[in-house]
Amino acid sequence: MSSPEPPAEFCPHYPSPRKNKAGLWRMFFSARHSWLDALYERSYRMRMGEVHLPGLDLYMVNQPESVRKVMEDQEANFPKSPLLGKALKPLLGESIFTTNGAQWRRQRSMMDPAFALARLQAAFPPMQAAVDAMLGRLKKLPANSEHDIEVEMTHVTADIIFRTIFSSPMEGEDARRIFDAFARFQALAPRLMLPSLFGMRWLVWPWDIWRSHRAAGEIRNILEKLIRLRHEAIKQGTQEQSPDILGSFMEARDEHTGRPFIFEELVDQVAMLFLAGHETSASALTWACHLIAHRKDIQDRMYAEANRFGDPSSLQSSDLKGLELTRNVFRETLRLFPPVGFIARQSSTSCPMGSKQIVAGATVVVAPWLIQRHRKYWESPDNFDPDRFDRPQTRNSLKQAYLPFGMGPRVCLGAAFALQEATLILARLIREYELTPVASHVPMPVGRLTIRSANGVRLMLRRRSL
Ligand code: HEM
Repeated sequence: MSSPEPPAEFCPHYPSPRKNKAGLWRMFFSARHSWLDALYERSYRMRMGEVHLPGLDLYMVNQPESVRKVMEDQEANFPKSPLLGKALKPLLGESIFTTNGAQWRRQRSMMDPAFALARLQAAFPPMQAAVDAMLGRLKKLPANSEHDIEVEMTHVTADIIFRTIFSSPMEGEDARRIFDAFARFQALAPRLMLPSLFGMRWLVWPWDIWRSHRAAGEIRNILEKLIRLRHEAIKQGTQEQSPDILGSFMEARDEHTGRPFIFEELVDQVAMLFLAGHETSASALTWACHLIAHRKDIQDRMYAEANRFGDPSSLQSSDLKGLELTRNVFRETLRLFPPVGFIARQSSTSCPMGSKQIVAGATVVVAPWLIQRHRKYWESPDNFDPDRFDRPQTRNSLKQAYLPFGMGPRVCLGAAFALQEATLILARLIREYELTPVASHVPMPVGRLTIRSANGVRLMLRRRSL
């Protein structure tokens, strides 16, 4: 009797952790290229780690109870670290992503309604239209050929967030300029952030600061122009308010003072949504394509699942519930390649944590990248296994060690939005194309603003005969 087939496995490549902790300079220069390169083997097994340098006390927190303390139970004592805020300020200003305390609470309560269920359903048709446009672009590419899927995932997610904010597609010269400026801004962010993290702000090159401000200025000018057009039209009564995200932000009122967002605040929030709303989703979707390209069996099941709904252009948002495997593929991708790989907070007081005493002013890092691949909390942590989400034994891992959207009061505002768009994009892509890996091309994950591939994600796209 022949033995049963071994289960198919795919453990995607990621930088091999060092055997031991590197010295300061080595760690700094590795992290400057990608913070994933600064990790070492014990990082994936430890409960907590620490680094102390002149001007820097940093704690890396992996243990579930401590993570909950930082993100949820005592989150007021662990505000957002100014690190990210400083690097992103030229683009995001005083937006919800980086503010703290009363300012953040006011912004969150004014922005929540834009992401309520009804708004999410209203966002579905523009998402469908952006996916139609994506499939149209793919159709024009040479048949059965090799493509960098990252380019397309970045385009479609930027188009979706643009359409849902402004009710118009992202195309033409403005689109090209935004893409271009955004790529420059994204590449510069770690160079501005890391020296501060290592207590070496003097290592930030003024030239990099200038370039980052310039790229941010270009993006903000375009967004400002669009917001101003709407602002003026509403003021002069020549246009009704649209049921899109910008409309919701313009209608929002402070619950205590009754005041709306001023113009500058609107620009900050829209710029932030544009960044948070497509960079993260583009990263995750790119990795999802890479993973399923290596698991034909899973892709075949996804194809069968998507086919159950017949004509995909008539798909409704309520149908997405039925795409269970597709959703699990995306959730498993977020486990292996969490776009926000580390979350930095600053402790406002001295306090005990695990067996250590955290000093006031210390940087406390919660790293979904480490926690979701932690040897203690996950079975076969490096294996791509979407079906684990259906197994009861995974429940504990999920409860303890799964936080791709963060947790607590500052949990991602757009989590449901991201799940909706990702399920739709993957289902429709797989219904029309079979993805296969390109021999000899191994994507190299790098930790920058999000987790991207240093050398793109090249795949073969074969159009299915429908
Ligand atoms: C797969 C996609 C996404 C991932 C993995 C993700 C992840 C996260 C994480 C981890 C945080 C918390 C950061 C922290 O605590 O410091 C966050 C915050 C946030 N995200 Fe997302 N995000 C995604 C997509 C989106 C989308 C599509 C939107 C909007 C359309 C969005 C809007 C936001 C906003 C506004 C915040 C700040 C919330 C606050 O501080 O109150 N995100 N996201």
